[in-house]
Amino acid sequence: MCGIIGYIGEENALPILISGLKALEYRGYDSAGVALLVGDKFEVRKKVGKVEILEESLKDNNLDSHIGIGHTRWATHGSPTELNAHPHGDCSGRVFAVHNGIIENYKELKSYLEDRGHIFRSQTDTEVVPHLIENFLNSGKDFDTSLFDALKMIRGAYALAIIDSKNPETLYATKLSSPLVIGVGVEENFLASDPSALIGKTKNVVYLGDGEIAKINHNNINIINFEKQETPFEIVSLEWDLEQAQKGDFSHFMLKEIFEGPEVVRSAFRGRIKPKENAVKLGGLEIVSDKLKDIKRLIVLACGTSYYAGLVGEYYFEEISKIPTEVHFASEFRYREETFNEGTAVIAISQSGETADTLAAMKKAKEHGLMALGIVNTVGSTIARETEAGVYNHAGPEIGVASTKAFLSQLTILLLMAIYLSKDKYTTEPLLKELEKIPNKIEEILYQSSQLEELAEKYKDYENFLFLGRRYNYPVALEGALKLKEISYIHAEGYGAREMKHGPIAMINPDFPSMAIVPQNSVSEKMFSNLEEIKARKGPILAIATEGDKKISSLADDVFYVPKTMEALEPFLTVVPLQLFSYYIGTKRGFDVDKPRNLAKSVTVE
Ligand code: G6P
Repeated sequence: MCGIIGYIGEENALPILISGLKALEYRGYDSAGVALLVGDKFEVRKKVGKVEILEESLKDNNLDSHIGIGHTRWATHGSPTELNAHPHGDCSGRVFAVHNGIIENYKELKSYLEDRGHIFRSQTDTEVVPHLIENFLNSGKDFDTSLFDALKMIRGAYALAIIDSKNPETLYATKLSSPLVIGVGVEENFLASDPSALIGKTKNVVYLGDGEIAKINHNNINIINFEKQETPFEIVSLEWDLEQAQKGDFSHFMLKEIFEGPEVVRSAFRGRIKPKENAVKLGGLEIVSDKLKDIKRLIVLACGTSYYAGLVGEYYFEEISKIPTEVHFASEFRYREETFNEGTAVIAISQSGETADTLAAMKKAKEHGLMALGIVNTVGSTIARETEAGVYNHAGPEIGVASTKAFLSQLTILLLMAIYLSKDKYTTEPLLKELEKIPNKIEEILYQSSQLEELAEKYKDYENFLFLGRRYNYPVALEGALKLKEISYIHAEGYGAREMKHGPIAMINPDFPSMAIVPQNSVSEKMFSNLEEIKARKGPILAIATEGDKKISSLADDVFYVPKTMEALEPFLTVVPLQLFSYYIGTKRGFDVDKPRNLAKSVTVE
C-alpha cells in the first residue's frame, strides 16, 4: 500500500524524506517520488522501482529545501510509471500533492477540469486534487478556501499531503478513512501515513481525524475541520524506539519479529497479572468494568492473522469466561444484516489499528449501540481511538508484512481478557501460572530453529500443503497455511483435521504433504486417526508434537517437538515452528519475505 512522508523545519528536507520513504518500503510499492520547494520553485523527482533509485538520482543535486513531501506508490489507477508516480502537480506547477486511498469520483472531476482547460499528465485519480485546487485559485480564492472547496467536491478515501509554492511555510494535510499522523518535533514537524516512518525522528505524534485539515509550520500545528472551526488535538507519545524498527543482526524483519515472540508475550502480561490474587488487571477496561459484568455475547472482528488470533480467543471466551462468542471477518460483518441483543459487545483486533474493514465493522457495531472494545498494538491509532475501551499489546512496531509477533501478543491479551471476564478462579489460576512460563518455552523452540531450517530444505519444493489441527490448534492450522501462502507462494490450506474427510482428503498423494499440529491433548487420539488416513494414501506427514511423544514418530515422516503446556496455551507454542518453517521455505525459494508480492502491511482501503 502507498506511503506518505512530509517534512517542514530547519533541517534539509531531502534526506529526511528519503529515510522516511525507506521506512515505508515494507508496506509494498512500485514507484517513489518527492517534491521539494527550493526557493520559490518545486523540484520534483519520481522513479519507478526502489527508493534507492530515487535517492541515487538526487545525490548530485545539492537541494537546499526545508519543506517537502514524498510518496511510495502501489499502483491502483494506472500502471507503475514515472508519470503516474506521486507527487502530482497542477498545470502551473504551484501546488503538489501526494495521496493514499482512492478518489471515487475522479472521472467526473477530471472531465469537469478538462472542460476548464486543465491538462492532465497521468492516469491517476490523485492528479485531480492539485488541479481542483488550482481551479479555485484561478477564480481568485485564497489557498485555504480553494483547498476547502476542492475537498468538498472529492468523494472517496484519502490521506493527502499538499504543498503550495506561495505558502512556503505551511505543509497541508487532510484525511478521510485513510490514516495520517503528524510527528511533532522541535523547530520541525513531520507527516507520515504510518507512525513507524517517524521512529528515530520523534516519539510525539498527533493522529489526524477524519474531515480534519492540518496546517503545519515548523513550530506550530493548527487543525481545523471542514466547517473551518479549530479542533483541539492530543499529542500521543509512541513508546517505540529506533532499535525496534531496525533489523539488527537478523537477515529479515520477519525473523527478528519471530525471535521477539517471548518478549512480546512478557510485555503483554507484564504488570497485568496480580500474583497474590491470581487475577488479571486490565487498566484499559476499568472504565467499562461495570458494563462488562452484564456482557452476554461477544463478537470478535478482525482481518488476516488478527482474525485467526480471534478464533483462538473464541475458545478462551467460551471455555474460560463462559460467554457465547463469534468471530467474524470484519470485511463480511460490515455487510451482514444482523439483529443484536442487549448485552452484546464487539472486540476489534488489529495490530496496525488502521485496517479499513475492521474499522468499518466496528463503526457499524457502534451504530447499533454495541459496546466496542479493542485489542490494538498501535497506540492512538484510529481503531484505538474509536473504541470505548481496550487493551494495548505493547508489542513494538511490526514491520514484516507477514504478521508473527502480533499473533502471540494478541493471544496473550485475549487470554488475559477471558480470565478478566471469568468468575471462576479455580480454572484461571493454573492458566495464569502457565502463561508466565510460556516465554521460556517459546525460547526453547527458538533454540531449535535450525531443525526447522532443515525441514524447510526438505519440503521447500512441494507446491501444495495441508495444515491440520483440532480445537485450539485449528486456528493455528489456518494461520500456518496463511503464513506459508503469504511468503513462499505455495498453495496451502488449513483445515480442521476431521473436516479433511469431507473433501481435502481427495487431494492427498505422495506430492501433497500435510503439516499436522498434534500436541498431546484431549483430541490427540482423534488426530492420530486422521493421520492414519493420510498415511494410508501415502501423503507425507510433518508433525508438530509434544516432547516425549513416542507414538507420533511411527506415523509422521518428520516431527518437530514443542514443550508440554496446557491445552489452551498450545497455540503459543505450536504457531512458532510454523512461522519459522514458512520463513525458511520463503527464503530458500529465494523470496524477499519482508515484502511479499501483492500484499500490504496495513490495508487501509476496502
Ligand atoms: C494485512 C496484513 C496481515 C494482517 C492484516 C490485518 O493483510 O498483511 O499481516 O494480519 O492486514 O491487519 P491488522 O493491522 O488489522 O492486524
